[in-house]
Amino acid sequence: MARETKFERFQIRQMTGTIGAEITGLDLARDRSPETMADLKRAIHRYHVLAIRDQKMELEDVHQVRAALGPFSGNPVHEPIDGYDDLMILNREPDETGKVIGEDWHMDLAWLAKPPGITMLYGHEVPPVGGDTCFTSLEWAYRSLSPAMKAMIEDFVVVHSGKGVLGQQYGSVKMRADVHKIASFEVEHPLVCTDPVTGERYLFVSSVIDRIKGFTPAETRPIIDYLFKVATRPEFNCRLRWAPGTLGMWLNPCVMHTAINDYPGYRRTMYRSTIEGWTPIAASGKRAAA
Ligand code: SIN
Repeated sequence: MARETKFERFQIRQMTGTIGAEITGLDLARDRSPETMADLKRAIHRYHVLAIRDQKMELEDVHQVRAALGPFSGNPVHEPIDGYDDLMILNREPDETGKVIGEDWHMDLAWLAKPPGITMLYGHEVPPVGGDTCFTSLEWAYRSLSPAMKAMIEDFVVVHSGKGVLGQQYGSVKMRADVHKIASFEVEHPLVCTDPVTGERYLFVSSVIDRIKGFTPAETRPIIDYLFKVATRPEFNCRLRWAPGTLGMWLNPCVMHTAINDYPGYRRTMYRSTIEGWTPIAASGKRAAA
């Protein structure tokens, strides 16, 4: 499963046989040239998760990298920080308890017509142990299905809903004043999609699927639960071990991820932004209704 590709502007090493790569030899505070950004995009469409090590970034640098990669995708859930419309800070204090933000497998904003394409997370302060993020590949999940299952789900259209999203307040992470509106968001996406850059197919499953179009909830659940179980199998996972100065990036529609809640007593402060994605493309060529 080795898929090494040569990149002129940095060194890259696969994290696992299926997903994730570590990048070294790149200083994004200095080099945000179009050529480097194009290489990063090529790498992210190939490996889906990148851990770019040894960066020294302030909020302004994260903002500049986001701007160099593409337009901000918007965030209807969280308040941006003062001075930057496109940045938020995920902070967890040592004495905080309860769930961490992003705990449990999910895709960022899957219930939008155009979910973010790339999510960026920068490790400003990370625990000495714990606080990793796990990812799973929806491309490998699709590949692993039998021909009969692939044929059965080829044209399925799935309704993702914002109603389950309105959760708890996580520490100092501020929700937008109009966040209640997202409870009424529903969007139809094809279940089997094509990456517009590589042409590879992926299984578009998320944690907020309400129903398969045309199916009852009782018929929907076992199919989606089965696909979710396949999608989170360990052989399709990688685990990003953060270090101060690691810039993580993931190709949001092609992965699910989960934050690991195992660092009580330590602070974890991450800077986050998102880059515009694409309207999901049905692999069958048929479009989901708008
Ligand atoms: C997220 O789900 O976007 C947050 C992941 C993390 O903090 O590790």
